[in-house]
Amino acid sequence: MCGIVGYVGTRPAVDVLIRGLRRLEYRGYDSAGVAFFRGSRLEIRKAEGKLENVEKLLNSNLSSHGEATCGIGHTRWATHGKPTTQNAHPHQTGHVVLVHNGIIENYQEIKREIVAKGFHPKSETDSELFGFLVLQEMDRGANLTEAVRRSFAHVQGACSVVVMSEREPGVVVGVRNGSPLVAARDPLGGAILASDAQPLIEYTREVIFLEQGDMAVASRDGLRFFSLESGRELQRETATLDWSLEKLDKQGFAHYMLKEIHEQPTALVDTLNGLLDRVRTDPFPLAEQPGVKLLDSAREILIVACGTSWHAAQIGKYWIERWARVPVSVDLASEFRYRSPVVGPGTVVIGISQSGETADTLAVIRQMKEQRIPTLAVTNVRGSTLSREADAVFYTSAGPEIGVAATKTFTAQLFVLLLLSGYLSLRRGADSRAEIPAFFEQLVKVPHILADCLGSEAMTATRKAAAELVTSKGFFFIGRGYSFPVALEGALKLKEIAYIHAEGYAAGELKHGPIAMIDEGMTVVVLAPQDAWRDKTVSNLEEVKARGARIVGIGAASDSSLASLCHHWIPLPSITQGLDESLLPFLLTPILQLFSYEIATIKGTDVDKPRNLAKSVTVE
Ligand code: M6R
Repeated sequence: MCGIVGYVGTRPAVDVLIRGLRRLEYRGYDSAGVAFFRGSRLEIRKAEGKLENVEKLLNSNLSSHGEATCGIGHTRWATHGKPTTQNAHPHQTGHVVLVHNGIIENYQEIKREIVAKGFHPKSETDSELFGFLVLQEMDRGANLTEAVRRSFAHVQGACSVVVMSEREPGVVVGVRNGSPLVAARDPLGGAILASDAQPLIEYTREVIFLEQGDMAVASRDGLRFFSLESGRELQRETATLDWSLEKLDKQGFAHYMLKEIHEQPTALVDTLNGLLDRVRTDPFPLAEQPGVKLLDSAREILIVACGTSWHAAQIGKYWIERWARVPVSVDLASEFRYRSPVVGPGTVVIGISQSGETADTLAVIRQMKEQRIPTLAVTNVRGSTLSREADAVFYTSAGPEIGVAATKTFTAQLFVLLLLSGYLSLRRGADSRAEIPAFFEQLVKVPHILADCLGSEAMTATRKAAAELVTSKGFFFIGRGYSFPVALEGALKLKEIAYIHAEGYAAGELKHGPIAMIDEGMTVVVLAPQDAWRDKTVSNLEEVKARGARIVGIGAASDSSLASLCHHWIPLPSITQGLDESLLPFLLTPILQLFSYEIATIKGTDVDKPRNLAKSVTVE
């Protein structure tokens, strides 16, 4: 979604803005722009496409921005109006300039009023209209902060804005009314605001996550906070970030996605250490925290999520039901919130979201809170909206994920769900509890086994298969049991980054329709590791083979009968033999991630920033 940066201080503002926007590029965008003070006048440079286009405009006239120490910048992900220069932010209305992230739902109503008063918006965006509201309030005598505050009273919808005015050079006013905004004091004087913390950590680790309905007013003197509702000044706590700049760089990998695939062992170790009390020697020693108490009270669990996080939830359901015998239902957040769901007493709702900002997932958590249903979050971002609004949080500790396609955050989510399953098994006295100590011993080894797998022959075979199948007209990913949601995730990755049509299917469902599509032009990727479902999956594979599809098989290295059915064979390393079948998703997933990555790089797509996608989907 759109990215915002605002800065005022002693540094060259345009440099701070561009560097900040670069760090927000991963969110996905289709146009960009900056506005800065040249003396007391505001100037804007904006362009369609990549940030480089804005830099070209800036470089063609260095003298115009070299002295600027105050400005705002934006990367736009189009919602209202095409991705053109005209619709790009910042938007200027008279002496007011603004950037906006989110949606103004009543924009048509506001537009009618504005046009009736004789104003003429230049863009098709909802965002520009806010500038007219601020202009009118300032013309009535309000200062910039108060004008922004009063203008918000007319706006419906979740958004954040950052505004400047030529009448108050050196003041940057930001509002968080839904979409996130983070602020920090610059140790050299002044302050910086942004849509997430990544642009800030270059300057400081001490940041303030604005609360819903907060205004931040930045000037050379620092940073102050006010209530959007009452206008009263507020005190806000500072949080210390533990992310390092080093972790944000590509460290020699061609893409962030590839680096993040290889970071999965570390992400799992860090997640484990973040959640377990490692001083204890009992299995699944979840450290004392509010989330554990909530889990203890659950008679049923409902998990809501979107996209990849929803796939993690599906695997979580299989695990929690298998290990702990607690009933689990899983819902797409975007569906759940608009039907009439029945949530029984004793249900605990878990929202899973790597970003912690996904609009639909947040909306469900809010609905549940209104109904006094206990809520838990699983997220990777400390201070995210989800982490603050849910009753309790289990963090994944995957570190920043820059590639738009989720990789390490997915396996870290899986790790959390498996830890919760094992914990609940013991806590509930489930029949499986006798197996738990041995299972836990295997689970703590998963990061090491995964590291081995990433350097194994499986990856060489994956690259080879990908290179030979890049022209396939379509893909099915099939599996049963735990491998079914892994197959869904494999298909999503291929669609996202390689733009090839792919579907994930429960292997047993193929014959109920989709098999009609199978012919020589199609590829079927079959996940058939040594588990309870292997034989059934292999018999489904025979049906596919008979119809001429190319087959990529992933299974145990010793499974020669499966290997003989496949055109491309990806053997799981022998170290995985004897592993409990619950752990196999951790080894199948990176193979599918790499498979999509290879196809995408051969096709030459923008792997880290695939078209039309955003890292954190803050609109519904
Ligand atoms: O931040 P979230 O986990 O809530 O995001 C949900 C989806 O938007 C996300 O998983 C999306 O499907 C990714 N691009 C997957 O790679």
